[in-house]
Amino acid sequence: MRLYKKEGNSIQILSFPNDNVEKGDYLLVEDSGVNRKLITQVIDVQFASVPGLLEELLRDSTTDERVCGENFDPLGVSSHINHIQDARMLLCKIRGTLVNEKLHVNSSWLPSRSKSGITRIPVNSLLKHLGGNQDLPINIGETKDASPLTITAHDLDGRLNIITGKKGTGKSHLSKLLVLGLVEYKATVVVLDLNGEYTGLGFSSSGGSNKYSKRVHVLTPGANFRVSLAQMELRVMLNILVHALNLPGTSTREFKRIWKSLRQQGSFTLQDLGDAIRDCKCNIHVRDALFSRYYSLVNSGFFTDDDSAISFEKIFEETRDVGGALVINLSDVSSVDRQIVLEYTLGNLVKLLSKWKIRSVFLFAEEAHLYLRETYWEDIVTRMRHFGLFTNFVTNQPDTIKENIYRQADSIFLFNFTNERDLETVSRAARVDSETVKSIAQELPPHHCLLIGRAVKDFPVMVKVRALDIKTMGQTRLFFTNKNN
Ligand SMILES: Nc1ncnc2c1ncn2[C@@H]1O[C@H](COP(=O)(O)OP(=O)(O)OP(=O)(O)O)[C@@H](O)[C@H]1O
Ligand SMILES: [Mg+2]
Repeated sequence: MRLYKKEGNSIQILSFPNDNVEKGDYLLVEDSGVNRKLITQVIDVQFASVPGLLEELLRDSTTDERVCGENFDPLGVSSHINHIQDARMLLCKIRGTLVNEKLHVNSSWLPSRSKSGITRIPVNSLLKHLGGNQDLPINIGETKDASPLTITAHDLDGRLNIITGKKGTGKSHLSKLLVLGLVEYKATVVVLDLNGEYTGLGFSSSGGSNKYSKRVHVLTPGANFRVSLAQMELRVMLNILVHALNLPGTSTREFKRIWKSLRQQGSFTLQDLGDAIRDCKCNIHVRDALFSRYYSLVNSGFFTDDDSAISFEKIFEETRDVGGALVINLSDVSSVDRQIVLEYTLGNLVKLLSKWKIRSVFLFAEEAHLYLRETYWEDIVTRMRHFGLFTNFVTNQPDTIKENIYRQADSIFLFNFTNERDLETVSRAARVDSETVKSIAQELPPHHCLLIGRAVKDFPVMVKVRALDIKTMGQTRLFFTNKNN
């Protein structure tokens, strides 16, 4: 391999087929004269455009037809010409410089073209070279050179991550892997599970329970996830009324008054709230507005007066020492009820975090645009992060996540996208150049992802995500079944 050209942080390297270099590989350019090495990543492999090559190829194809069987290469130069025809140009991005084995991220140094040696460097030895925290490893899968790739749980701690890719590429699978990885280290994880896919986390693929069974708590709103008004805060209730049920301002004021007077009487039930609204001396329109919201609350089946009400605080207390995943199963919940559950869940999470009842929570949100209201996006990535709520968004529609969230994302787990527009959206992430994203992500096979950002110390790595022995749920139901399966 020979160094050919450098422009900005792009570099072009001439190579031949027997060098066996592919997209995503890392190359080390070593200048024997100085103690510096350039770390580059191949983002595209093209044929080298050699002057006169087209003519040569054309001439080749015509001689093929005319002189079959005869020796038309008396000087024996054809192997040499073939060699040149097969020459490749590797388009690479400079990822950093090693000076005396220490990493620097600038790319101002230019190695010698005549003296530089270029070698392939396995991803694992590269990451090891970069050092960083090695404890709490989570095995993600294997790299192209078949060595295991681990990230550390520290790289998810206090961070914002995005898992994205087109349908069926393995996003939810990776997200389950991360959830279990965190639970293994006794973290508390909350999963907003839109399709009921995570409900099998506590079971192995054969159906029996696995080692996580006791730590996976599936909460189904309306079934085993119901709450009482007595343990609710006015603030959370108002969020539900205003944001999920669109209660107008005047009625909200009246509701506040009713709630406060009920509170003064002590504990109260749904029935008491209904009676208080009926008896309230307010404008008939206000009362109607309150009543319609009241019935929405009752019909959601999420509120109850009996003993089946659960205490969020208690569940979190259970997970505090051993860790655990709280899977909120939103699969059979209507969109309004989903928002009610969400306002309740997030409102209470913030309360518990701000009172230090729990240290921090990792939130995994699938297709969050379907239930997260506008104002929450900003809130989750800025304010709530300081409270200890660390979010991981999972989506197959990258344009539903706002641009500023991509910019703030610490790591992105990018699966295949063929659509240019989707790639354009993802490439706005500040941590990587758009050429890398576009060139590599378009050719990722299923179950492979490109890891970008902090988790891989800003050295994008392609990884084949490992399989998991858990019961898969939420698969698409098909009409035509395959007899071979
Ligand atoms: N690394 C893997 N090893 C083995 N099976 C996998 C792997 N990744 C995904 N799968 C399987 O492939 C199927 C699709 O994966 P998954 O549901 O995670 O895709 P998805 O990207 O979340 O799709 P959607 O956009 O529809 O939500 C699942 O049955 C899953 O079990
Ligand atoms: Mg999915």
